[in-house]
Amino acid sequence: MTAPSRVSDAALRRLERTARSASARAYAPYSRFPVGAAVLAGSGRIYPGCNVENAAYGMCNCAERTAIFSAVAAGEKSVRAVAVYTPTPLPTTPCGACRQVIHEFGPDAVVISVCDSKNRIETRVPALLPGAFGPGDLA
Ligand code: THU
Repeated sequence: MTAPSRVSDAALRRLERTARSASARAYAPYSRFPVGAAVLAGSGRIYPGCNVENAAYGMCNCAERTAIFSAVAAGEKSVRAVAVYTPTPLPTTPCGACRQVIHEFGPDAVVISVCDSKNRIETRVPALLPGAFGPGDLA
């Protein structure tokens, strides 16, 4: 087994700050729940994301997926860490759909959740999505 890849504390703090500031750009007129996210990609660059809602509610996109899709659109192929900020007293972890999308590009990625208090969660994708189906399962 290989050791989990290490992401520096400084990079994680930067990621958290980016996620917090990205929430200001959320388009969330229906839920009024502005979420921010940030992705540390394989290149070392950080990409922000926010939730983008739609009058057809099923088309709403979470902040985490916005950040990952931006990274991929910029040419990134892997995700080392994801941070998500929610405007809540306690941190929340990414939804099931976002866990699956994070897994696609970062099966061992660090996932950090921050909120409006000092509480935070720091975990990794295998803990959030055990037994995940992924690219390796396709022949
Ligand atoms: N949302 C996110 O963007 N990320 C999460 O981790 C939780 C939920 C969004 C989706 C929707 O726009 C709003 O928050 C309420 O669910």
